[in-house]
Amino acid sequence: MVANEFQQKIAVVTGAGRGIGQTVADALRNSGAKVAALDIEFSHAGDHQFLIDVTDSKAVDQTISAVEERLGEIDYLVNVAGILRVGSLLECNDEDWQRTFAVNTTGAFNVCRAVGRRMLPRRRGAIVAVSSNAASVPRIGMGAYAASKAATSHMLKCLGLELAHANIRCNIVAPGSTDTAMQQQLWTEAQGAKNVIAGSAENYRLGIPLQRIASAENIAAVVLFLLSSNAAHITLESILVDGGATLGC
Ligand SMILES: NC(=O)c1ccc[n+]([C@@H]2O[C@H](COP(=O)([O-])OP(=O)(O)OC[C@H]3O[C@@H](n4cnc5c(N)ncnc54)[C@H](O)[C@@H]3O)[C@@H](O)[C@H]2O)c1
Repeated sequence: MVANEFQQKIAVVTGAGRGIGQTVADALRNSGAKVAALDIEFSHAGDHQFLIDVTDSKAVDQTISAVEERLGEIDYLVNVAGILRVGSLLECNDEDWQRTFAVNTTGAFNVCRAVGRRMLPRRRGAIVAVSSNAASVPRIGMGAYAASKAATSHMLKCLGLELAHANIRCNIVAPGSTDTAMQQQLWTEAQGAKNVIAGSAENYRLGIPLQRIASAENIAAVVLFLLSSNAAHITLESILVDGGATLGC
């Protein structure tokens, strides 16, 4: 990596109010970047916070304009905002299906479009989306989520193809089980994490070969790698960060 390459760079991170997004924003700030943190709510007060629902495309465009006015030209975008509503596809109601796609897929598209339009004429920038290992491996009780993440990952690869001639790279980080509020909502008993690590044959889940749940820092480290010049020749790529849980599929 070029020394201090994030210093004074401008980064937008969605879903930065807590969890993985907050950790990515902190990591970028600690590396010297100026971070615009976007979310519908924030667990802590901080600098450059923008209250925004990514499903509202008009508000997204206005917010991205405001970010550039206040902080400067955006160098990096990290899409982390996401929701998980569990349940079988046959029991999934219209609102759960639509909201899942609205946040996870359309929301990522709204922000990518607003930022990508600004990056293109400047011919510089890097975009990362935090998707999921469920984008490539079917999961029981997560059909809407998995489908929305598959769509998001593919959208980002298509965008990467459109922007490659301008040297703007688009990549995906696909986490497995990561220790955040979203993951903990799935743990119904004290043994929750242990059960996830062990796997569950009746749910066709193999468990986690590395024998641990990821930390948000594990995910943030790969996001920063993909933004950095160490990844200068990587685009349209998806990196699984799931401890081997989906056997690299
Ligand atoms: N935690 C896991 O096990 C796991 C695994 C795979 C993928 N992921 C993905 O990682 C990302 C972050 O997940 P997390 O675990 O930190 O979850 P989280 O629920 O802790 O954080 C998600 C953040 O997104 C924000 N958000 C939700 N809807 C929004 C909207 N409409 N507009 C703006 N912000 C919105 C929330 O307010 C929250 O701050 C998500 O996209 C998730 O799908 C998480």
